[in-house]
Amino acid sequence: MERNLKKLVSQMTLEEKAGMCSGLDFWHLKGVERLGIPSVMVSDGPHGLRKQDEAADHLGINDSIKAVCFPPAVLSACSFDRELMHTFGDAIGKEAQANDLSVVLGPAVNIKRSPLCGRNFEYYSEDPYLAGETAAAFINGVQAHHVGTSIKHFAANNQEFNRMSCSSNADERTLREIYLSAFETAVKKSQPYTVMCSYNKINGTFASENPWLLTDVLRDEWGFEGYVMSDWGAVNDRVAGLKAGLELEMPSSGGINDREIVSAVQNGTLDEAVLDQAVERMLKIIFTYTDHREDQEFTLEADHALAKQIAEESMVLLKNDSILPLNDEEKIVFIGEFAAKPRYQGGGSSHINSYRVSSILDSITEKTNVTYVKGFQADSDIYDEDLAGEAIEAAKNADKVVIFAGLPDSFESEGYDRTHMRLPDCQNRLIDEILAVQSQVIVVLHNGSPVEMPWLSKVKGLLEAYLGGQAVGEALADILFGKVNPSGKLAETIPYKLSDNPSYLSFGDGEDVEYSEGIFVGYRYYDTKEMPVAFPFGYGLSYTTFAYSNLRISQKELSDADTITVSADVTNTGDREGKEIVQLYVRDLTGTVRRPLKELKGYDKVSLKPGETKTVSFTLDYRSFAWYNTRLSDWYAASGDYEILIAASSQDVRLTEQVHLTTRKVLPLNVHANTTLGELLSDERTKALGLEFKKRMDTFFGAPAISDEEESSSAKEAISDEMNNAMVASMPLRNVVTFGLLGREELENLLNEMNQH
Ligand code: BGC
Repeated sequence: MERNLKKLVSQMTLEEKAGMCSGLDFWHLKGVERLGIPSVMVSDGPHGLRKQDEAADHLGINDSIKAVCFPPAVLSACSFDRELMHTFGDAIGKEAQANDLSVVLGPAVNIKRSPLCGRNFEYYSEDPYLAGETAAAFINGVQAHHVGTSIKHFAANNQEFNRMSCSSNADERTLREIYLSAFETAVKKSQPYTVMCSYNKINGTFASENPWLLTDVLRDEWGFEGYVMSDWGAVNDRVAGLKAGLELEMPSSGGINDREIVSAVQNGTLDEAVLDQAVERMLKIIFTYTDHREDQEFTLEADHALAKQIAEESMVLLKNDSILPLNDEEKIVFIGEFAAKPRYQGGGSSHINSYRVSSILDSITEKTNVTYVKGFQADSDIYDEDLAGEAIEAAKNADKVVIFAGLPDSFESEGYDRTHMRLPDCQNRLIDEILAVQSQVIVVLHNGSPVEMPWLSKVKGLLEAYLGGQAVGEALADILFGKVNPSGKLAETIPYKLSDNPSYLSFGDGEDVEYSEGIFVGYRYYDTKEMPVAFPFGYGLSYTTFAYSNLRISQKELSDADTITVSADVTNTGDREGKEIVQLYVRDLTGTVRRPLKELKGYDKVSLKPGETKTVSFTLDYRSFAWYNTRLSDWYAASGDYEILIAASSQDVRLTEQVHLTTRKVLPLNVHANTTLGELLSDERTKALGLEFKKRMDTFFGAPAISDEEESSSAKEAISDEMNNAMVASMPLRNVVTFGLLGREELENLLNEMNQH
């Protein structure tokens, strides 16, 4: 139905329009009954519905409806599977339609800057390309049902400490390349109906009243067409927010902020047209939903099965010294309460009232020979002598031991950050004690963010299950006993220790958080710094093996208008069917700017039978090679050579090839009195002039002061040719004046002339 929204807005009173700009209550938008504008409901969240009906709270304390808890983002991102994420979104869209929800509050795409962020379990990755692609696929799945998403938290919300008031201080290149880029991809590829602005400030301005963020970048540059809502309670100054591009304040402000909007229009400090436009944007999204209601039937059981599939496709096998898969004949001991009571989701606003949770103990078949001993309590950090003693005894007599370790709920949650990266000490101690009596040990981890693993070299098997969603037990049973071949890879680096993380010295401090590591986040730092890590980004094992060959590139000479295709063959060289995630990284060889050693620009997941070969293909364009150049206020890749890397992880590069890029983009010339001769020499446009000045400088410095041969050689030792060259190269142009090589006016004329080109 074509609706005349402008007309509708014109029929609304000022109070009705201002009222539309904040929630009716915790979860509903206001409607205007007399004009047929319905009041619609929104609800968390990214990995399942948290629809609260009565006595709503936003911390997940009151019960919400029973729903399927799918694997949180920390795990699903490890699937590296766009199609699966689309199917995931599709299921959420159907559930939302069936439950009368107009917008689902997710996905959350904030970058994992530090392993300490309490909310990392809700976020996809340390890499913006992976986070953006994953989010876009999920959003397209949900919105295929005309249910909106709210991509969050926009932007640079990377810690929980002081999240409602701190300022994330980062330079523009860092923001564009790392912290905004996943949002950009999602907006361009999936046009989320809504964007949720974050609580924090960015370089001193609240996200909720930041015109650069909400209008210049989001709408004018990226073409966002939906509406922006605030995170719950993120509004600082309502009128400033509206002007900046924040359409909806959530939840209700009890009318206080609505009245501010009314007064601002009345006293002329807010143009009513701004309000009209905001209301129109919201109406468009509201009616997109209400005009496309679907009679959805979904079953919780079918979605439970999908939750299991996502978990199976995402868990990451990190170590396997010929110990997995387990088989039914072996005498196996399971240790750790997580085997009976798995930790499968995190705390806070995304917490789902799961309709059915499977533990691995519920999920193993009767044919297996498994004994369970508790060993430690899942929610405690206290070493229990009796429980531990029993576990050590049981471990002695087993063929293999599987320890289900992990972080208790209290260690990580929305609202606060972790203070260290360790497992509870009682668990580390027990793992060591088991290893003293048993060499065949596998550890399964349940955690929302990486942990230090002091026992890593001694265990034979390690499975990163992260937070597996409500079907975690069935997925674990199938992977551990080999019914399913693991195929997830890490969406983040696991460093050996917290202090290796690039944000270690500046994370979470005070009101002003300086993002001093800049663009060097995650593997961009570890790989460039050649820092050894426990497990690199993109890493994950399978029960089979894969070989890569035959790298082909459609053209090796490209211009900035070209799109090229890169393809490679992958062969399953083992004896089991399996899936491989192939990654494409780009390395800048031009040496024109400081950049990470490599950056992810493509990935694909393929399923291969034993002996089978398939071709994977990737498309690259100018942007795949580019970095954000603040001099141009645009993405820029210099002319020169670039390397294409086809890899099994960020540190396991299998195939490489070079391409040569030629760009017509030119950087604006900005030559001034403090430009150095070296800078003049390195730019083709100023090189000739630079050479001329250099000649004069050389003569100036090079004239031997003393003619005596001996002394002249000692003078040469003091000022070698290399030193002379370096000195001249770092000489600012103002010195050509002070050394009397050019008049001041002459230099100024020259600079003006040059800068005009
Ligand atoms: C969280 C959001 C969430 C909202 C509503 C806030 O505290 O930051 O992610 O969507 O509450 O529950």
